Amino acid sequence: MGLNAPGSPLVAFVERTVRRGGNWRERDLELVMAGRPPLIVDAAASVAPDGSVVVTLHPLAEGDEDAPAGALQTAANLGRTLAHEIKNPLAGIRGAAQLLQAGASLEDSALAQLIMDETDRVRRLVERLEAFSDSRRLNIQPLNIHRILDRVRALVVNGVGEGLVFRASYDPSLPPVLGDEDQLVQVFLNLVKNAAEAARSRRDDRGEVVISTAFRHQARHADGDGPATPLEVKVQDNGPGVAPEVRRRLFDPFVTGKPNGTGLGLTVAAQVVAAHAGLIDFQSEPGRTVFRVLLPVSNHANIDPADA
Ligand SMILES: Nc1ncnc2c1ncn2[C@@H]1O[C@H](COP(=O)(O)OP(=O)(O)OP(=O)(O)O)[C@@H](O)[C@H]1O
Ligand SMILES: [Mg+2]
Repeated sequence: MGLNAPGSPLVAFVERTVRRGGNWRERDLELVMAGRPPLIVDAAASVAPDGSVVVTLHPLAEGDEDAPAGALQTAANLGRTLAHEIKNPLAGIRGAAQLLQAGASLEDSALAQLIMDETDRVRRLVERLEAFSDSRRLNIQPLNIHRILDRVRALVVNGVGEGLVFRASYDPSLPPVLGDEDQLVQVFLNLVKNAAEAARSRRDDRGEVVISTAFRHQARHADGDGPATPLEVKVQDNGPGVAPEVRRRLFDPFVTGKPNGTGLGLTVAAQVVAAHAGLIDFQSEPGRTVFRVLLPVSNHANIDPADA
């Protein structure tokens, strides 16, 4: 049976929506596609005044269905569930605004655009919250930090990093870091994105981001009894520096100096670093801002050579 076969749950849902008009949602809809295992999705559909229909489908992310037991997971689950519940209607709202814009006057078109921009912002916010909840499920293993940093650099160079110079200064003798790969990518993505955004705001086209690594023998938690965190990663930019009004609360949620910022990038970074028993801090002056992350390393004896 194909996706659009008559009688499929998706087609039935779309037909119902057309019949009733307006915006509708349906959870746990089974999509059957030729030659593939069935996919469970949440669907949203809205009918525009001109009769066209926008349908958005959200496949359930892995782990959505099998909620882990235990009170500890409640907050993480709540975040995930909430994100899920918000993203669906949001997609419907955005789709409807997009349809309205098509036939709208200039003035109304600007309002429709406003709705789309704001729903995009809320979606970004919610995605951040999702990442926030996810950091409780760490999959710790020995990892090559330079591979992680190269991945992040590639992501940023092709995104907000256009027109900037990126430099890497790696210590090739570093032992593997002990961490969760996806979560560490998220940490350095947030830091390198911030650095790129800061460096881009220079007027002279000389924006530069430098990522460096080093081994610090003495590095320990300030309280003295945490694990050793000798692996140091620095993300440096030559942007304007951290604005004085946000400096004290930089790692708090929703603190942002950017018109489209969610103010969660550093909050997530700090939370993940803390979950790794690491440290994060920064030094900033106009023309030189450095965010520093200290992480634990893997015990040499236990390293699988394939991961080293
Ligand atoms: N490298 C930097 N140089 C100057 N200011 C920075 C730098 N990194 C962070 N900041 C300041 O800290 C604020 C908070 O950063 P954070 O990453 O948490 O949120 P954001 O970048 O505003 O939004 P988001 O990351 O969610 O898109 C930024 O808005 C900016 O004002
Ligand atoms: Mg940011």
